[in-house]
Amino acid sequence: MSVTITVSRHHTFPTRIVFLTKEEAANIRDFSGETNEISLGYEDDSTLITVGLGEQKSCTPDTVRAGAANAIRRVHDLKRTDVSVVLPEGSPAGVGTFAAVIEGTLLGNYRFLKYKSEPPVMLEKIEFVGEKSALEELRRLETVCAATDYARDLVNENASTMTPARLAQEATALAKGGKLKVTVLDEKEIAEKGLHLLKAVGQGSETPPRLIVIEYAGDRASPEKTGIVGKGITFDSGGQNLKPTGHIETMRCDMAGAAAVLGTMRTLAAIKAKVNVVGVIAAAQNAIGEHAYFPGDIYSSYEGKTVEILSTDAEGRLVLADAVSWCRKHYAPGRIIDLATLTGGILSALGDTVAGLFSNDDALAGELFAAGEKTGERLWRFPLYREYRESLKSDIADLRNLSKLKKGYASSITGAAFIQEFTGDLPWAHLDIAGTAWNDGSARGEVPAFATGYGVRLLVDFLTRE
Ligand code: BES
Ligand code: MG
Ligand code: ZN
Repeated sequence: MSVTITVSRHHTFPTRIVFLTKEEAANIRDFSGETNEISLGYEDDSTLITVGLGEQKSCTPDTVRAGAANAIRRVHDLKRTDVSVVLPEGSPAGVGTFAAVIEGTLLGNYRFLKYKSEPPVMLEKIEFVGEKSALEELRRLETVCAATDYARDLVNENASTMTPARLAQEATALAKGGKLKVTVLDEKEIAEKGLHLLKAVGQGSETPPRLIVIEYAGDRASPEKTGIVGKGITFDSGGQNLKPTGHIETMRCDMAGAAAVLGTMRTLAAIKAKVNVVGVIAAAQNAIGEHAYFPGDIYSSYEGKTVEILSTDAEGRLVLADAVSWCRKHYAPGRIIDLATLTGGILSALGDTVAGLFSNDDALAGELFAAGEKTGERLWRFPLYREYRESLKSDIADLRNLSKLKKGYASSITGAAFIQEFTGDLPWAHLDIAGTAWNDGSARGEVPAFATGYGVRLLVDFLTRE
């Protein structure tokens, strides 16, 4: 069941969310307007949830987005079926205020309830109180937030259900609207076409790999095209280099890059974005078993370079290498961005609130960084110096999938540097979303517990910014 969203000049529901800066809260009893402060009060017949925005001068869209999301979860606790959200006057966070309230509210409303025997009371109606002009922006934000929820659903779903074939079905279903063209290579075609690395990673599993391509041509007059490539490991057991307890339990999140690509393509089609984008997903399950690929073995990539497999758990870079090569060769984009839950190392470096950015192109990196700051899906850039690339040279093959550096040294960078070997001179960026795709803790602001849907809003903003 989905929620109905409207804009109205006056509030109609007895539960209301309002926002106040510290200055505005000066004369209010028992409420100081601090960031993260939420109070529950009663006025006549209505329930008032007041959200603090902090000092006007330090209030940003991030503060507002998080505040709105935290407030909507209070509404969940109150078991309400409808709520009015009053858009703050005077734009305390600048031009992005209304958008931030709407995004925070919609993203905060997400819950994954499929496996709850007794689902809680759900919100049926959300009404934003403000000028009708907010409506135009609302429809676009609603679309992007719904696609973020879609990506979250895909990642939260059981790994045994969300198989490579199922990811292909999801892409095919998105194409039913007529604006996307989907091509799927099954395991037979993957072998025939020579996508040896994708084949190797997927061969240990009962559920075979897929290469999924989704094309969107929204600006036929323009020769420009962007490739977005997603890691779609539907479960990462580590393979023969099996992951231990404590590291394996969340590994259904390893297709979060693929989910972000699906969510982005769905949005571009829905908003009729004036851009050309090709999405490529390398989908496989990294399983352990008698058919699984072996550490020490050497495989050829689709592009031709050979790879010595030193760890079957460094599988993401392998499937991405073939997907990036396929994307370049058959779709000739002007630039490529890949998204991948690639390394645990990115969690050591940045934690779970910022994703790693790696690029061979300063302009592209700058634009992605800006999109991250705007959407709150933040990125921080790492270097790709020569010594990192050198550390991937193999004595028995062209490349090794684990660097020669000491164990644990610069693992996120060398993972990125491996993918770079397959990008040629094309402007390319790699986003390591292993930290941001999943929230092990409880919900914070617009980020729910479990799958976060990271990357959809970032990519849509990046691809459609003027
Ligand atoms: N899927 C993992 C990375 C990961 C870790 C994602 C934690 C989400 C949370 C990836 O395939 C992996 O196993 N990476 C290894 C690479 C290593 C063997 C070079 C890692 O980071 O330990
Ligand atoms: Mg792995
Ligand atoms: Zn993985």
